[in-house]
Order: sequence, then C-alpha cells, then structure tokens
Amino acid sequence: MNSPVHCLIASSKGGVGKSTTALGLAVVFARAGRRVLLVDCDVSSRSLELFSGTADKALFHLGDLVLQRCSPEQACIVPFPELPGLTLCPAPSRLEESDILEKFPGGFPEAIACGCRTLVSNAYDVILWDTGSGYEIPRALASLAHVALVCTEQSPASIRAAAYTASLLSDVPKVRLVICSFDIDAARHSERAGMLEMIDRCNLKCAAVIPLDPKMMKAQENGTPPAEKLPAMRAYANLAKRLEGWDVPLFSGIRGMKRKHAL
Ligand SMILES: Nc1ncnc2c1ncn2[C@@H]1O[C@H](COP(=O)(O)OP(=O)(O)OP(=O)(O)O)[C@@H](O)[C@H]1O
Ligand SMILES: [Mg+2]
Repeated sequence: MNSPVHCLIASSKGGVGKSTTALGLAVVFARAGRRVLLVDCDVSSRSLELFSGTADKALFHLGDLVLQRCSPEQACIVPFPELPGLTLCPAPSRLEESDILEKFPGGFPEAIACGCRTLVSNAYDVILWDTGSGYEIPRALASLAHVALVCTEQSPASIRAAAYTASLLSDVPKVRLVICSFDIDAARHSERAGMLEMIDRCNLKCAAVIPLDPKMMKAQENGTPPAEKLPAMRAYANLAKRLEGWDVPLFSGIRGMKRKHAL
C-alpha cells in the first residue's frame, strides 16, 4: 500500500492551470484505483463543479460543512459515475460570506482550513486541494499538505507568481513546480519561456511539464473526465506516479515532448 498523498495545488495568479491539474490528477489516481478526495477551495470561480459537469447538482458544499449545516459525507459528491473512487467537495459560495465572517474572524482562509481539516481522513489515499488564485488559502492549508504543486504557464507574470507562491510555502515538506499548458513550439521558437528558464526563475524542482492540449479544454466544456490517452493526461499520469514516489522520466509516453526540443 502506498502512503497517502496530501497535495495542495497553488499559484497566486489566476488562469495558470491549477484546476486542470487538480482534476487531471484526481482522474488519473481514481483510474488507478486510488480513493481520491478533491476539494475545491476556490471561492471565486468554483471551476471544479463546471469542469466535472456537476454545477448546481451538489446539495451541500465546503461552506455548509464549515457552518455545520451538513456532515463531511453530505458535503461531497461523486462527480463521475464511471469513477466511483473520486469524491469532490465543491467550493463554498460567496452567498455564505456574512455567516462565515461571523463565525471565522479570519474569513474564508480560516474557514476553508477548518473545513479541510474536517475532511482529512484515512478513507482516502489521495487528497487534492485546489486552492484557487491568491496566496492566503494555500498558506492556511500548508500545514495539512505533504506536497505543494505550484503551477505556472509560460507568461512572465505567471512565472513570477509561481516563484512568489513557492516562497510562502516553506512549511510544506515538498514544493514542486508544474509547468502547465506548455507550448513547445513557442518555446522552440523563443516566443515563450522555455522549461529551463522557468525552472531557473522559480528555483524549484520540476515535477511535471503538461503539454498544451486543446482536448483538455474540450473535456472541461463537456464536463467529462479527460481521456486517458491525451498527451496532457499522460503527463498527469507521470506526475501521479512521481507523487507516489516512483522515478518516472519527465516525458515518458508523451508524444512530441522530446527532451532536446524542450530545453
Ligand atoms: N494542458 C492544457 N492544455 C490546454 N489548455 C489548458 C491546459 N491546462 C489548462 N488549460 C486551460 O487554461 C485555462 C485555465 O486553466 P484552469 O482553470 O485550470 O486555471 P486555474 O489556475 O485553475 O484558474 P483560476 O485561478 O481562475 O481558478 C482553462 O481554460 C483550461 O482549459
Ligand atoms: Mg481554478
């Protein structure tokens, strides 16, 4: 039996690939038979409900849990019937803001950390927290995590945000970089940052390079789990194995990501 993986997925910048990474990893782990809890801590966008086609289907969410309006079991749903091992706890809604502020003077970060502590259980092999943009929620959850995945894409602002986010997560035993939506052609033609430049600027070990893959977006629009054979999902499968302690080459099984091109 592998030891549990408790992983937070962070970047202070929006739109860099955090939710895609959280859901991609959750699907990969669930397909491998792991019991997975995916927690949407992103109050502002609640993307995981959209990406999993469950928007408005859940009766309760993390906000109800912290306000003691439901049990941990009631706060969660199984988003994909074909993946019964994957459980999602949807994000709190802004509608609860005044109730949350009344109970938690530290606001959403304090409330979310309280809810997430309640959800930690050895009923799960893997717990993934999608922390949304900003840095307060990742910091509030840092003490729960074994590993933080700091996401970036190739824009200078996103690389800067990754370096900054990582600097705030020194309490997490392992902090790793995940390069999302990597456009290898743009890097090859020096139009966008290359991998080494990004790793160097963030000063982090790189745990995965996820290729730009338009079919990932399509799956999110349809609210379906992305197919196993997509290049991005193969990269997430490699990342999942690395998180469980396996030594997997960065580009194993991913077409078009030859090392010599990528540097
Ligand atoms: N590997 C990929 N290939 C193509 N598109 C991708 C990939 N990863 C993410 N995207 C797209 O990039 C956009 C932003 O991704 P995502 O929502 O995961 O970012 P985020 O960091 O969670 O954003 P937010 O901070 O707003 O929650 C989405 O439209 C998503 O479909
Ligand atoms: Mg998101």
